Amino acid sequence: MASELTTPEGTPAHAGALAVRVRGLVKEFGSRRVLDGLDLTVRHGEFVALLGRSGSGKSTLLRILCGLDRDVVGQSTVDGTVSVAFQQPRLLDWRTVWRNVVLGLKVDDPRATARRALAEVQLADRADAWPRTLSGGEAQRVSLARALVREPDLLLLDEPFAALDALTRLAMHRLVGRLWARHTPAVLLVTHDVDEALALADRILVMDAGRIIAEHVLTAPRPRRLAELAPLRTDVLADLGVNDSDDGDDSEAA
Ligand SMILES: Nc1ncnc2c1ncn2[C@@H]1O[C@H](COP(=O)(O)OP(=O)(O)OP(=O)(O)O)[C@@H](O)[C@H]1O
Ligand SMILES: [Mg+2]
Repeated sequence: MASELTTPEGTPAHAGALAVRVRGLVKEFGSRRVLDGLDLTVRHGEFVALLGRSGSGKSTLLRILCGLDRDVVGQSTVDGTVSVAFQQPRLLDWRTVWRNVVLGLKVDDPRATARRALAEVQLADRADAWPRTLSGGEAQRVSLARALVREPDLLLLDEPFAALDALTRLAMHRLVGRLWARHTPAVLLVTHDVDEALALADRILVMDAGRIIAEHVLTAPRPRRLAELAPLRTDVLADLGVNDSDDGDDSEAA
């Protein structure tokens, strides 16, 4: 993977170029084909949300993009460095928060580097805490700090907020939006939450049976009013096989 330069302002020197290029990707587990000739591109600095039913192959794709699974057919290229945050924060219980953040990172002053990253997720005061003493949302913020401290060109997020309560999730959306605007990595966010995708993404992709079956480009400025995006929300839900007029209203069913 080639390393990429960034300007001091954090604007990618390669804006417009591709951070991810996937063509004809096929992944089989035994006789089961999970990715079936998938094509995908993500531009540097672009925020892409990936939705799809359970089992449609989203996590499999992310594992391939971050190099955890190389047993594939087809082309999968990432231009630059990659960080991942999973649904579970996956912190090491026997290391303090700040040591988790800089785990494996070679820098002159790891503690100061970790504190700066923790300050970005409003957790500087928990640097010396043990992971078990954190709330779910705090642990997830540590996981984000750990991903961002590596200043990745590509940030892969696999349902990182799914386990959080609704209010914490909204706060996390705002935080991720701010961090993305500041650091400008390309982001590929896997989520089941259509509103999360509408709030954050430049582009929404819907995956089914191992391929991208729909693409929606969002041009509305941020922060977004979700009410104004209701027609798009309906379209995305339809791509997912959900008819949102079914939502809890049985009055027309008779
Ligand atoms: N290591 C594995 N061995 C065998 N089958 C696997 C393996 N990993 C994933 N699969 C299968 O591949 C399919 C896609 O799995 P994947 O985890 O990519 O789905 P997903 O879209 O992330 O689903 P979810 O939304 O539930 O997280 C599933 O049917 C799963 O059972
Ligand atoms: Mg998954």
